[in-house]
Amino acid sequence: MSEPEPLWREEFPVETAGESYVSRRQFAKFLVLGSAGMLAGNAWIAAKGATEKGRDLPTLAIARHDEIPVGGVKLFGYPTPDDPCLLVRLSEEEFVAFDQKCTHLSCAVYFDARTREIRCPCHEGRFSALDGRVLAGPPPRPLPRILLERRGPEIVAVGIDMQGGA
Ligand code: FES
Repeated sequence: MSEPEPLWREEFPVETAGESYVSRRQFAKFLVLGSAGMLAGNAWIAAKGATEKGRDLPTLAIARHDEIPVGGVKLFGYPTPDDPCLLVRLSEEEFVAFDQKCTHLSCAVYFDARTREIRCPCHEGRFSALDGRVLAGPPPRPLPRILLERRGPEIVAVGIDMQGGA
């Protein structure tokens, strides 16, 4: 005579071998929910990017014209004090400014007056000091360029050209 079926087996009818079995319906549900989550995430990132681009950037006096010697550099923050940037005086009348964060992994870049390049010490990325384009190394994009205007004796930051970056 066989033993009666224990009560728990009736309440939990899943066999040990079937515990990890995923039905087609469960799998499809997982795919749909996962895709919906990714779609929502991408939509949020796109909306945030559009908002940032449309944002009014401040006009900020960052240096006096005679403050920096030719080949000299001044650090400043733009558009906020927490966004480090680099102002370089290339010649008597030519100033350029870039975001100081490397477009590879965000190390701080510096101006090399000897080669007249902007360099990243982390993985030897090199950028043109004229326009921020990548000359060598792993950076995937040019450095964002800070748009400058001369207003009397002041050098003024008026915007950012992302140069193809987000
Ligand atoms: S962080 Fe600048 S080259 Fe890697």
